[in-house]
Amino acid sequence: MTSKVKKIRAAALLLALLCCLGGCIQLPKTEPSETAGSGETPKEEVTVGKHHETAVYTYSTEVDEETLKTGLSKEYLLLANKNCVLGEDYVPENLVSLPRAWTTRSMKLERRAAAALSEMVEEMLAAGVSDTYVTSAYRTYAYQQARFDEYRANEMKDITEDAYAVLGYDHIYNKYLVNHRTGLDAQDAERVVLSYSARPGTSEHQTGLCVDFITEGMGGKLDASFENYEAYTWLSQNAYRFGFILRYPKDKTEITGYQYEPWHYRFVGREAATDIYFSGLTLEEYLSATAS
Ligand code: DAL
Ligand code: ZN
Repeated sequence: MTSKVKKIRAAALLLALLCCLGGCIQLPKTEPSETAGSGETPKEEVTVGKHHETAVYTYSTEVDEETLKTGLSKEYLLLANKNCVLGEDYVPENLVSLPRAWTTRSMKLERRAAAALSEMVEEMLAAGVSDTYVTSAYRTYAYQQARFDEYRANEMKDITEDAYAVLGYDHIYNKYLVNHRTGLDAQDAERVVLSYSARPGTSEHQTGLCVDFITEGMGGKLDASFENYEAYTWLSQNAYRFGFILRYPKDKTEITGYQYEPWHYRFVGREAATDIYFSGLTLEEYLSATAS
């Protein structure tokens, strides 16, 4: 462990109680612009199953070693969580389309994050991981709203495992099961959804700096089984080299505010990613520890 990482970890321990979900970095609000895409279309089918080996890579990366190492501006450390709200009008600048060869649909990402992602995917493919696709990248406020509403409607139809995990058996038994109710009310449904989906205006996907991966074997369903695939093993060991971090680790749900998401990777630049990887901190903890 480097002395820098030690220093960060020590500072983080001191600040741990203060930093949880706090310490938002304030950034200038960006107005929607013509360069901004509309993001993904709600309810589009997930299509996994194209063959990487037949793909033609036309994407030319703009990332060089220097860019990945240092000098990234604070915009790549933008924090979006339950306390750090982006708002309805936030649209990242410089969105570019990702290559369709390794995405499940047409989608966009911030330019530098996209270039780093491109390099990472190329290397992952070269390492023999060829069953993995990006299934979500930049999401507009409207898209996140549609997803959030859909999730809430689903939680109101059935009592899911997530409902038991969030609300507890006693609550569900006393309020629903004894009354033969098969779905949650809107308030409980929203509490459950907030354990795995961001409210519109607070999703990291609206920053244009993160992606979700999925493998062919997962059948279009994004869940924790991703950690059983080679892609997860490879990303766990290598993502930081390209400036990406696992954003919602298993043992940090109290800090991040969300369940474990082995599929969700966030671009922060190589320097921060390396520090975060070796210190085991979340982005929240890292930002608190390094705040001047
Ligand atoms: N699933 C993550 C937390 C999101 O909705 O942004
Ligand atoms: Zn995600």
